[in-house]
Amino acid sequence: MSYRKGAAMKNKTTLVFSHVRWHIIAAYFLAVFLALVAMIVVVVALVYIHAAPNLPHDVLQTVMDKVMVRLVLILGVLVILGGVGSWFLARIIAARRELKLQTDIDAQLLDVANDSIFVHDLKGNCLYANETAYKSRGYDQIELKVLRFPALEVPESAKLNEARTKELLEKGELIFESAHLRKGKPPMLVEVHSRVVGSNGRRFIITSVRDITERKRTEEELREASEKLQRAMEGTIHAMAVTAEIRDPYTAGHQQRVAKLATAIAREMDLPEEQVEGIRVAGILHDIGKTYVPAEILSKPGILRKNEMSLVKDHAEVGYDLLKTVEFSWPVAQIVFQHHERMDGSGYPRGLSGEDVMIEARIMGVADVIEAMASHRPYRPAFSTEKALLEIIQKKGILYDAQVVDACLKLFNEKQFSFD
Ligand SMILES: [Fe+2]
Repeated sequence: MSYRKGAAMKNKTTLVFSHVRWHIIAAYFLAVFLALVAMIVVVVALVYIHAAPNLPHDVLQTVMDKVMVRLVLILGVLVILGGVGSWFLARIIAARRELKLQTDIDAQLLDVANDSIFVHDLKGNCLYANETAYKSRGYDQIELKVLRFPALEVPESAKLNEARTKELLEKGELIFESAHLRKGKPPMLVEVHSRVVGSNGRRFIITSVRDITERKRTEEELREASEKLQRAMEGTIHAMAVTAEIRDPYTAGHQQRVAKLATAIAREMDLPEEQVEGIRVAGILHDIGKTYVPAEILSKPGILRKNEMSLVKDHAEVGYDLLKTVEFSWPVAQIVFQHHERMDGSGYPRGLSGEDVMIEARIMGVADVIEAMASHRPYRPAFSTEKALLEIIQKKGILYDAQVVDACLKLFNEKQFSFD
């Protein structure tokens, strides 16, 4: 309570514009007015008393009547004038008091604000600074008011002040981040919001300065935590991918290479980077369901029997089951589920067709077949890249999405894409 009282007292001197004590002036004028009325009454009474002994009774009565009538008239006029004047004066006093009250409230509002508030003239001289402004910087009020705005800033930021002031005067408003000096403490990071305002033909700069040190620190911590989480997730994804490939040495690295081609196709198709990232993660994990397929089937040379082929085909659904409970930011499980679906409905496991196959899975399907054909397998040697590309050209629009095929061909034919 005493603190607030003290703050209110300080505000009286802090304000740029002080106010005249109008109620004292009003009382003074009223007293002068009443004294004048009293003097007139006394003068008239004295004239009457001195004149009375030398006049006959009837003349005296006439004079007295005339004097009294005039006196009453004069007094009446004076009372009316005095009343009207006092009424106006009372109105002015009430308005001034209201204005002063409002000004005091405004000043205290500025003082309770968490942000520093400054008013500067266009030369940078400080006209007003609220309580937060000087307390947060460790100055007293007088010390702060003699400082020009650049002196509040760290040198690296202060040297930009001239350019910023120019921009502020051109635009009328400016928001920027800076660092402000504090006595005995490290500088604080601040967000500065300045605006040019005008009053009575003069222009001022009102500036609100917010301490964002804590916010920046929290943001940095969040960024570090996010990066840590990202690294942990990458490690987990890599471990999962290796688990799938370790049992199938012939396809080691297959998922990474598919991921590389699939993300390149996605970027060539101008998909949003967020979607591209989902394709990358799904690519690295797309064959994780093969952990369910016996190793001897995966590495078996020659043609697979029907039941063996059926087990291999199950890998898409097994992959989905393994990943569906992992809360990725992207539909990784669905992409894995659909990566063997084809545009004409001839794929597996559900025989989806056309637009029912998500674009990420259509991209994955093309990248998968190109990488698989270009790599060595236990039952056949590697095909050339040309032969792999011929496969997607021939099945373009039938098995494979036409736009995906076009993007893939562009990568190999015009942009020298390489798996290495
Ligand atoms: Fe697969």
